[in-house]
Amino acid sequence: MAKLWGGRFTQDSSSLLDSFNASIAFDQELWEYDIAGSKVHAKMLLSIGVLKRSEYESIINGLQSIAERIKKDEFEFKIVDEDIHMAIESALIDLVGEAGKKLHTARSRNDQVALDFRMYVLDYNRKIRLKILDLMDTILEVAKEHTDTIMPGMTHLQHAQPINFGFHLVAWCVSLKRDYQRFSDSFERNNFLPLGVGALAGTPYGNDREMMAKDLGFKAPTLNAMDTVSERDFALDMLYDISMLLMHISRFSEELVLWSSYEFKFISISDAYSTGSSIMPQKKNPDVPELLRGKSGRVFGNLMGLLSVMKGLPLAYNKDTQEDKEGVFDSVKTTMISLEILKEVLASMRIYPENMLKMAKIGHLTATDLADFLVREKQLPFREAHHITGEVVAFAEKKGVDISELSEDEIFQITSLKLVGIEKILDIKTSMNARDSLGGTSTRRTKEQIDDLKNWIDEKKNG
Ligand code: ARG
Repeated sequence: MAKLWGGRFTQDSSSLLDSFNASIAFDQELWEYDIAGSKVHAKMLLSIGVLKRSEYESIINGLQSIAERIKKDEFEFKIVDEDIHMAIESALIDLVGEAGKKLHTARSRNDQVALDFRMYVLDYNRKIRLKILDLMDTILEVAKEHTDTIMPGMTHLQHAQPINFGFHLVAWCVSLKRDYQRFSDSFERNNFLPLGVGALAGTPYGNDREMMAKDLGFKAPTLNAMDTVSERDFALDMLYDISMLLMHISRFSEELVLWSSYEFKFISISDAYSTGSSIMPQKKNPDVPELLRGKSGRVFGNLMGLLSVMKGLPLAYNKDTQEDKEGVFDSVKTTMISLEILKEVLASMRIYPENMLKMAKIGHLTATDLADFLVREKQLPFREAHHITGEVVAFAEKKGVDISELSEDEIFQITSLKLVGIEKILDIKTSMNARDSLGGTSTRRTKEQIDDLKNWIDEKKNG
């Protein structure tokens, strides 16, 4: 079959070349953007006098009917068409004849693919951001209910100080906010129109790129033709933003896996989002967070893949860049479903505050509060207070209780210090609420942080 570019060729291409060279199997994903770009390009050709109105109209109608066919799954994507750009262009020529042959004036597949792919990336940048907001909303709904639910806060995965569960969830949310902002920054940086730069050096037709940028919703046209057809920074930004997001999701997932184990039993994941074992009938496995953790590895790979494709390319367009798409499509789809399912898992999980509290009473989490009390009430130097507290901890250990369970009298026996009100001070909840500095875990500060994030989300949703 004759190729759209076949004029200078005397021999048919080998079928091996056709399948090796073709991107149609995956870049059909871009069809909607390709058609949108072609419509605007046709409008521009009309405005600079390349197309007559009747030709313009038949092109627009032709593109529209191709779009309908693709939507209804009635369009045949053929390997011989090579890529989505030529598939649509040759279908258009079949449909409307001569006028269709004029569409590729003042345009190259190099700027066409740069446009389509960028539109895809920006479109999903928006979609992913909306999903991040939904996930944050869900997390904050849970957090709101648990600003008083004591759990052990950890460092080095060891019990450290009492916190509340809401506060822990807010910590997740703050990293999601940064992720959102990272996507926004990339969006702003890349929101420029590639179309109209031709193959690499501009065109002799005086393409009205400003008009096309405006029509397609870009901020402005890109600056330099060569850079435009050759760079894939917008796709790398996307892959990096996704990698950061999924790195965070992987960390949350690790905690969900731990928390749902018998050793913690802080939560249980709903049956709807758990799986069984084929051999051990008693098992309920947290496959969703495990997969989320695993999928982060996969999207990091996609980022490394495209960086490696790009690193040795001379200006301008090189066919290597055809390898830019599959990893991005894969990362985008992985992200969309990951955000969705994590939200469902969190909304439906069961939480066990009594187990969290039980664990918060292991490990003398309020020891620092005793030392602080000695500094404050007895004007002891902190080092001395630290030492005395150590002795109290040793006593509690020997007795087999937590420091929060000792009485004022027992503490007097060990320290010879009359510490009025110490029982209250060593209480786990008092300790949590004592951490009331800006950004701290106290219920009051946690609620403040939740409100702050909620206001920010509302602003983003309505802005
Ligand atoms: N399928 C190609 C890609 O994805 C489109 C651009 C091809 N341009 C060219 N001059 N061969 O990169």
